Amino acid sequence: MAAWNQATSRGGATACEARARTNSASNAPERVHSTPNPAFRADVLAGLSTRPRAIPARWFYDRRGSELFEEITHLPEYYLTRVERSILVAHAADIAELTGPAAAVIEFGSGSSAKTPLLLSAVAPSAYVPIDISGEFLRESAAALADQFPELPIYPVEGDFLHPLELPPEIGDAPRLGFFPGSTIGNMSAAAAVDLLRAMADTVGQGSKLLIGIDRIKPTNVLIPAYDDAQGVTAEFNLNLLHRINRELDGNLPVSAFRHVARWNDTEARIEMHLEATHDVSFAIDGHPFAISKGKTIHTENSHKYGPRDARLLLRAGAWTPVAEWTDRDGQFALILAEARPVPAAP
Ligand code: TRP
Repeated sequence: MAAWNQATSRGGATACEARARTNSASNAPERVHSTPNPAFRADVLAGLSTRPRAIPARWFYDRRGSELFEEITHLPEYYLTRVERSILVAHAADIAELTGPAAAVIEFGSGSSAKTPLLLSAVAPSAYVPIDISGEFLRESAAALADQFPELPIYPVEGDFLHPLELPPEIGDAPRLGFFPGSTIGNMSAAAAVDLLRAMADTVGQGSKLLIGIDRIKPTNVLIPAYDDAQGVTAEFNLNLLHRINRELDGNLPVSAFRHVARWNDTEARIEMHLEATHDVSFAIDGHPFAISKGKTIHTENSHKYGPRDARLLLRAGAWTPVAEWTDRDGQFALILAEARPVPAAP
C-alpha cells in the first residue's frame, strides 16, 4: 500500500466529463463583444478560407460545448464511455496486478471523467498527476478527486502534453502509469497520434506503463448513431461551434442553414463530423466575407477507429510495447496496457 500523506486541492466545482484532451480553448463564460480569442479567430478565418473547409475540433469545448459533450457520454447510442467503464470495472484486479501498487498515475487530460476514480481505486497509487492545458479544468477536477481520495497526493501539471513535460519531483522514483482514456488518441491523425505517444513516453520515461483506451472498427450501423444520435445532442454539439463563432467572433452565420453530418470514411478508418450547408449561404465573421454553396461542408472532427492489430501497431510506432489488452464481450472497445521499453534491433 502506498504512503498517502497529503491531498492537494484547489477550489472549483465538479468538473464535466471528458472533453478534448488537447483543448486549449478558454472556458470563461461567453460574453458578447468580449475580446475574441486570437487563436480561435485565426483558426476559424483560416479554416473557412482553405479547401476542404475545416475548423480544429478543440474549439468545440466552450462551456456549452463541454456540457453537450457530457450529455453525449450518457446517450444510449454513445457506447464508448459506457463500454470503457465496464472494461475498467471488470478487469480492475488484473490491471492492478500488472501495473503494481504505489505507482504515480499520470493522466493525460484533466481527469474529470468518471473513469479516473475507478482506476485510482483499483491500483492504489502513491500519487496522481493530472496534466491539462486548461488550468481551470485541472483545478476543478483535482478538487473533485481530492474530495474522493483525501489521502492521495495530487500534483496537477498545467501544460501541453503534446510535448514532453517535466513531472513534479514530489513523485520521486515511484513507477509511473500513464492513463489516456476515452479513445481521445483517435481524434488525431495517425501521424499526430504517434508524435503524441512518443511525447508521452518521453514525459513518463523508459520502464513506465500506459493504459490507453482505443475504440475499435465496427459496423457503421453502430458507429454512425454514436455520432448522430436520435435526440440530436451530437448535432447540437457540432452546431454549437457555429453559435460560438457568432457569439465570440462577431459572426452572422445562419446556423439553421447548416446540418450535422456524421460519415464513415473507410479509407481513413474514421468517423468524420461535418457541418453541411443546406443551401447557398453567405455571411461575415469579424468583417471577413464568406460564401458556402449548398452541399459543401465544414469538417469539424475525426474519430479514428482501430482494429486489434492496428491499435498495437500504432502503439509500437509511438515507442510503446503492448503488454496486455482487455475488451468487452463484443470487442467494441479496447483498453491496452503498454510499456515504454527499448525496441530490440531488427534481427
Ligand atoms: N474521443 C471521443 C470520440 O472520438 C470523444 C469525442 C471527441 C467526441 N469529439 C467528439 C464524441 C465529437 C462525439 C462527438 O468519440
